[in-house]
Amino acid sequence: MIRVNDNFGLLPESYLFSEVARRVKEFQEKNPDVKIIRMGIGDVTRPLCRASVEAMHRAADDEADTATFHGYGPEQGYSFLRDKIADFDYQRRGIDISADEIFIGDGAKSDLGNFFDILAQDNTVAVTDPVYPVYVDTNVMGGRGGKRTGEHHEGIIYIPINKDNDYIPQLPGVRPDVIYLCSPNNPTGTAMTRGELRKWIEYARKENCLILFDSAYESYIHSDDVPHSIYEIEGAKEVAVEFRSFSKTAGFTGVRCGYTVVPSVLKGKDSEGNVISLNRLWNRRQCTKFNGASYISQRAAEAVYSPEGRKQIMETVEYYMENARMMRESLAGAGYEIVGGIDSPYIWMKTPDGMSSWEFFDFLLSRHGIVGTPGSGFGAEGEGYLRLTAFNTHEATEEAMQRMHKK
Ligand code: MLT
Repeated sequence: MIRVNDNFGLLPESYLFSEVARRVKEFQEKNPDVKIIRMGIGDVTRPLCRASVEAMHRAADDEADTATFHGYGPEQGYSFLRDKIADFDYQRRGIDISADEIFIGDGAKSDLGNFFDILAQDNTVAVTDPVYPVYVDTNVMGGRGGKRTGEHHEGIIYIPINKDNDYIPQLPGVRPDVIYLCSPNNPTGTAMTRGELRKWIEYARKENCLILFDSAYESYIHSDDVPHSIYEIEGAKEVAVEFRSFSKTAGFTGVRCGYTVVPSVLKGKDSEGNVISLNRLWNRRQCTKFNGASYISQRAAEAVYSPEGRKQIMETVEYYMENARMMRESLAGAGYEIVGGIDSPYIWMKTPDGMSSWEFFDFLLSRHGIVGTPGSGFGAEGEGYLRLTAFNTHEATEEAMQRMHKK
């Protein structure tokens, strides 16, 4: 028989959100009359903005005519989209990023999971705890995780984010080669200020580390001192790759489109000491393994940068942030200990009465018909916490809060 990748045996049986979905399905089958309110996986509920929908219709018409049909596109993405991103997301913010440093993909999750293709296998990896499980699971699949004891893999460096450090990652005691940072953070909903991020850039420059910066929730930033891009920090281009997504910004969780910024000054070295451009390697990797996001998705993403598109997506972001505000007020009023929901659509709450994360998950589901995500699924430090999203409708969010007040 064919031999399989042993590293999969080191992973938990199922991916966190698949396990949550399995339990919810089982509960719904047993309790068909319960109206479940989903605040678990960070999936959006508002439709795509009009500007993107209209662009998709036009793109579909292009595909229907020999004269305007698009087959394989450039693996790096169409320049109509890369130029817009460089202009709106970077240059207008005073950040010197050019279109050829931007690679369009089908979402941040894939690129985050794939980026290690171009890095040496034996690089050591640091993640925060709690953490978006994709960073850990993909490193375990790639053989960098090592044995799992409890919630931790012995080959990974964990940086706790908890109440003691205000949920802000502090520099590690042991030097990693690669550091995953996510701000605004999934799952805690907290965000790093310019000063906090600067410490990491200085550390990475001094210690020759690479930062993989997940910025999928950037459009939810409301605080002035929270940077929208890691490249707002001086010196970041030499040490950081940035991952962005249209999923949460513009409701593309189903359409699929995101991008990764690999600055041309970012360099690594091979085992013989030759200096190699990461931009060149990522391009090589993408050309081999990826045929680009679809033309229709990229036209939809381009429309997000039109004047009406920008207005429409910000209305949706504010819609969700109104939910977050309502949740913060209501949960704090009910005596829950919470963080997040200011620069992020996530609220991170302490479970009541010393319940474990899964106990509270089960309690919320069976008692109130509400789905959250158990904090322990994001790491050992998440035990005793639960994450709620603000991505539902106003009505469902309000109803969930009323149900939770009933105890
Ligand atoms: C989450 O709920 O953490 C996210 O939806 C997962 C993702 O973006 O892949």
